[in-house]
Parts: sequence; structure tokens; C-alpha cells
Amino acid sequence: MALVDVSRLPQHVAIIMDGNGRWAQARGKPRTAGHERGADAVRATMRAARRLGIPALTLYAFSEQNWDRPQAEVNALVDLLCECLVSERNELVDNEIRLSAIGRLHKLPQHARSRLRTLTSETESYQGMTLNLALSYGGREELIDAARALATKARDGEVDPNEIDEAAVAALLPSMEVGPVDLLIRTGGEQRISNFLLWGSAYAELYFTDELWPDFSANSLYCAIEAYQGRQRRFGLVPDAQQRPASGESPSKLERAI
Ligand code: IPE
Ligand code: IPE
Ligand code: MG
Repeated sequence: MALVDVSRLPQHVAIIMDGNGRWAQARGKPRTAGHERGADAVRATMRAARRLGIPALTLYAFSEQNWDRPQAEVNALVDLLCECLVSERNELVDNEIRLSAIGRLHKLPQHARSRLRTLTSETESYQGMTLNLALSYGGREELIDAARALATKARDGEVDPNEIDEAAVAALLPSMEVGPVDLLIRTGGEQRISNFLLWGSAYAELYFTDELWPDFSANSLYCAIEAYQGRQRRFGLVPDAQQRPASGESPSKLERAI
């Protein structure tokens, strides 16, 4: 059982939801069955994050590179996305969750884009939590798009190249609208970033678990947050005498998860 200090929550949790295919394979099922069960884990995780009071949750649902998977699997993933955008509507509305999406969304089929647009605009005023879906997303692609935008502004005389700083780049990255990542979770046993939030994860705490995504639960999220709260973040500085290590603190408010 995990212990979470609700007064020191990560403000932005990002998850690489990996292992759907292996989950299905282990049960002699088609990969798509793993993706379907993965959607249940998305719902459980979203609920748990909302209940804890995490302000932003970014989920890696489909990478730019995933377009090169077999067409049948790509189609199944897009269909599942469309179904979820309908089935989860009430969940978002009832819990005041704002939906947003990042990635090269124009590559999604028209019907998926239109459902996404409908739900993002319907939930845009909610402040309970932001659920940010990374769809057709790649961290390098996002940086390329920002570089193009900056180069265009420089060419048009709208920006002085010598004045381009961290804030100027971050302002052009849709993934940074919810701020830098505090806790980056990857399920499925691999320990890599796979082109996820390259800029925003610069100082993220990384948490890898062997659990396959369809098995991820509220308690799995609590365990990841507990591990995060045991880390000392330094951001390139030296430990401050005033800044006690997170693991040594006696939290003002502890919540026993589940
Ligand atoms: C993650 O699970 C889902 C997507 C990438 C869309 P995978 O489909 O990558 O599952 P594994 O890694 O092959 O088990
Ligand atoms: C990362 O998983 C992408 C998503 C979870 C959407 P992949 O399965 O595509 O990544 P690799 O191939 O293991 O690097
Ligand atoms: Mg995978």
C-alpha cells in the first residue's frame, strides 16, 4: 500500500503507456485486445489523478512513429480513440476535467479530429484537472515545428535571433502549456523516453515499472507518486540547508492511498 503526501503532489504527471501488445500476447489475444484493456487503465488513472488533485496529466496515447505500425492496428487505435471520446464525455464533464491534445493532430482522420474538437471545446472552462492527450505526437517533431515558427518570425523581422531564450522556445511548445513535467512514468519494463516530452522532461523525475499498461491501477499511480516524493530534486543546484530532502520530511498531511 502506498503513502501519498497530498500537500506535495507533482503538478504535472506524464505517462508513457506501454505494454498493451505484450499484455494481449501473454493471453493469446490480438494486440488490439490489449489496447482495449489499456483504455480501462486510462479511465482508472484519470480518476485517481483527479481525486488526488493533480493539476495536469499528459498521456502518450499514439506517437508519430506509431503510424508505421500495421494498418489494421493503426485503424483499431484510431477507432478506440473515437469511441473513448464519446464514452468518456460524462466522466470528463462530471469531474470538471479539461481535455486538451498535443501532436500533429492534422494527421488524424477527420472524424477523430472533429470529436476531439467537440470535447476540447465543451470542457475548455473546467479547472478540476487538465487531461492532455499526446496523439500523433513526437518530441522531436514538436521541437522542429517550434524551430520552423521561430525561423519564420526571424525571417519576417518579428524576432531577433539573439533574443531567443528558453521562454521564447517554451512559448511555442504546446506540451508546455501545462508546464514542465514533474513525474514521468513509463510502464512495460522499457527504460527509454521514445520521443515523448523532450523539452518538458528536462528535470522530470523518471519512474519505470515492469507493470504492463492494462494492469496499471490507481494504486500503481500512488506507488509512483510515493517514489517521486522520496526523491530530492536539485535542478543543477547544490542541496540547500533549508531545503530538506523530500524523503526526510515529515509530511504535514499524509493520505493512505486506497
Ligand atoms: C502501447 O503499447 C500503446 C501504443 C504504443 C499505442 P504497445 O502497443 O507499444 O505494447 P507493446 O510495447 O508492444 O507491448
Ligand atoms: C511509446 O511506446 C509510444 C506510446 C506509448 C504511445 P512504443 O512502444 O511506441 O515505443 P518503443 O517502440 O518501445 O520505443
Ligand atoms: Mg510498446
